[in-house]
Amino acid sequence: MRHQGTVKGVESADVIVIGGGVIGLAIARSLALRGIKRIVLIERATLGAEASHAAAGMLAPQAEADGVDAFFELACASRDLYPAFADELREETGTDIELERTGTLYLAFTKKDEEEIEHRYNWQQRAGLFVERLSVDEARRLEPCISEEVRGALRFPLDVQVENRRLVAALSISVEQHGVRLLTETHVKSIIIEGGSIEGVETSRGTVHAPVVVVATGAWTSLLASSGNASLPVHVEPVRGQMLCFETKSRLMRHVIYSPRGYIVPRLDGRLLAGSTTEHVGFHKCVTGAGIHEITAHALEIAPAVSSLPLVDSWAGLRPCTEDEWPVIGACAETRGLFYATGHYRNGILLAPLTGELVAEQITTGRPAPLANVFSPERFQCVGVN
Ligand code: FAD
Ligand code: GLY
Repeated sequence: MRHQGTVKGVESADVIVIGGGVIGLAIARSLALRGIKRIVLIERATLGAEASHAAAGMLAPQAEADGVDAFFELACASRDLYPAFADELREETGTDIELERTGTLYLAFTKKDEEEIEHRYNWQQRAGLFVERLSVDEARRLEPCISEEVRGALRFPLDVQVENRRLVAALSISVEQHGVRLLTETHVKSIIIEGGSIEGVETSRGTVHAPVVVVATGAWTSLLASSGNASLPVHVEPVRGQMLCFETKSRLMRHVIYSPRGYIVPRLDGRLLAGSTTEHVGFHKCVTGAGIHEITAHALEIAPAVSSLPLVDSWAGLRPCTEDEWPVIGACAETRGLFYATGHYRNGILLAPLTGELVAEQITTGRPAPLANVFSPERFQCVGVN
């Protein structure tokens, strides 16, 4: 097959990472730290422009998971990496990703919510996790802004948050310092596969040759094709999440606060993020009247004082969701040199440091880490795409 000319100055690489969100950036950094020299990261727009910018930054497996399974273990293991990850990024780049460790409250407002927090408390207690059951008075003493309608609460001291936009900034500086070549505003049109092996990628600026390609294209993964125009075997659907941003002069709350319907995330600079929606509307990344209404109603249920705060910003992002809602991490068995790191759905910020490590380990050692086995693309019958 004939391809157009190569990208000037970047004819070839040892590893190409497609996608410059937190997942692609974390992988590029982990590869560089393991001594891989010629890494090229290709991003269609600017680094972190999509879901990684839109996210709320919660590192909250205990508030988000529904039980102890392989996904929960992955999420907790990644959460545990964060303190060292934040320190290393600060030392490398001078950027503080604002790992804020006050913890998370989970509130009940209805009878059904009370059953939900009871269930959550029980499975987490049985699993030996750090979870506190609070009376209404205790919860309101911790966060006086909480609605008087609250009927019960849990506290997860280890579910914390980061400023995900600072995380993108820190990772971007880090990978550049480690010598990763960044091709932004460059669209990967197809992955070149010949005789069952990766040959490189065809971009809007020409071809880049490499024996290894990592697909970290988030919600757009299913739009990528191989050179024979076959679509890739992993299916990822965009799931829209809208966010509202309020401004506070003095901090209204210190914890991240969830209800079963929404959440509020207080940033150190006084911004208060409220989220979110879960909408299957294709690639329409916009804020809607219904979204604003829904998020505001859920935020006011948690903290009525939000009603008088200025709404200063709003945005939407597309979460990458696979058929079983679990991420896809690892090598495609049928195409030598093809790796996936996508489908992180609601937890890509949380899972970024561990995903970087798992993918880099498999690329450099040729073996998947045990933790990654169940997230392999093979579960979707990853067949050859020559
Ligand atoms: P993205 O950040 O979307 O990056 C993928 C990149 O690939 C994009 O920059 C895109 O331009 C690029 N790309 C795509 N196709 C191509 C191509 N052909 N060529 C070149 N480049 C390409 N997660 C948490 O852990 N905690 C949270 O609190 C949280 N809150 C969220 C709230 C909202 C409203 C949303 C929308 C998401 C939230 N998430 C959260 C989920 C998290 O944002 C995602 O799981 C994570 O950002 C996925 O990272 P990514 O790098 O895979 O995708
Ligand atoms: N994890 C929060 C969200 O996806 O909205």
